[in-house]
Amino acid sequence: MLLDAAETARASRFYREADRNRYVLAHAACRRILGAAIGCRPIDVVFSTAADGKPFLPGSLLRFNLSHSGEHAALAISTGCEVGVDIETSPPEADRIAPLVLSDAELSAYFLLPSPPARAAAFLRAWTRKEAVLKGVGCGLRRDLRSLTIGIERAADGGLTVELDGGVWHLSDFAMEQEMLGCLATAEHPGQIIFRRFGVDRLEHGKVFSGLSGEGTDGKDAVRPTLYEQPTCST
Ligand SMILES: CC(C)(COP(=O)(O)OP(=O)(O)OC[C@H]1O[C@@H](n2cnc3c(N)ncnc32)[C@H](O)[C@@H]1OP(=O)(O)O)[C@@H](O)C(=O)NCCC(=O)NCCS
Repeated sequence: MLLDAAETARASRFYREADRNRYVLAHAACRRILGAAIGCRPIDVVFSTAADGKPFLPGSLLRFNLSHSGEHAALAISTGCEVGVDIETSPPEADRIAPLVLSDAELSAYFLLPSPPARAAAFLRAWTRKEAVLKGVGCGLRRDLRSLTIGIERAADGGLTVELDGGVWHLSDFAMEQEMLGCLATAEHPGQIIFRRFGVDRLEHGKVFSGLSGEGTDGKDAVRPTLYEQPTCST
């Protein structure tokens, strides 16, 4: 078993077996990737939780963040800068829940969009951007998503910059499966970013991710993070 006692206890609390399996697979993959990055066995990765609930690796410069949705998961790891990631599937009723997520300015732009698919895509962009940056900060959904205006438009080159609480965050949208989007948020800092996405229904035990070596930026790219995408896993 790759998980620790706390993860095992949490896994046992899932009512649906499918949810339990996805949780176990996502956490096992997370341990494999982080263990490879740190240089230890997956079971020896020690997690701690900040006061705001964000998991971190005590005593390590590596920062990470995990997101899962259905059968998919994404993990971002960075050297030294905070990172947040979020993946979401398009909700069936974007028009109905848009007022719960979008700021007034975003909502006005949203309802100008002519077609339901355009609105669904715009909603998903805004939602994942907000969650990614709030997960980067660590407060998560404790903060009202409507209080942030990040924008619903497609970013020209897939990335944009936002200021939050005096800090600068770089956001990179990325595509997952059909009707599924993600966003990676990194605090301003030169360094390496590793990003993995994987299907939690298809993880295989026994293979290990390659870790940090050769996968980062050269440190000059302080403005935009580099996404290292791996097709559906294959751990
Ligand atoms: C953490 C939170 C952002 C998760 O959102 P989500 O879209 O459901 O889930 P995601 O799959 O994107 O992310 C889950 C992962 O984020 C990480 N995470 C947990 N708390 C976090 C925090 N405060 N900040 C950043 N990351 C966090 C964990 O690795 C978690 O994985 P796990 O559940 O397998 O342990 C959200 O539940 C939250 O903000 N919770 C704190 C506030 C709260 O408890 N509110 C009550 C419900 S609104």
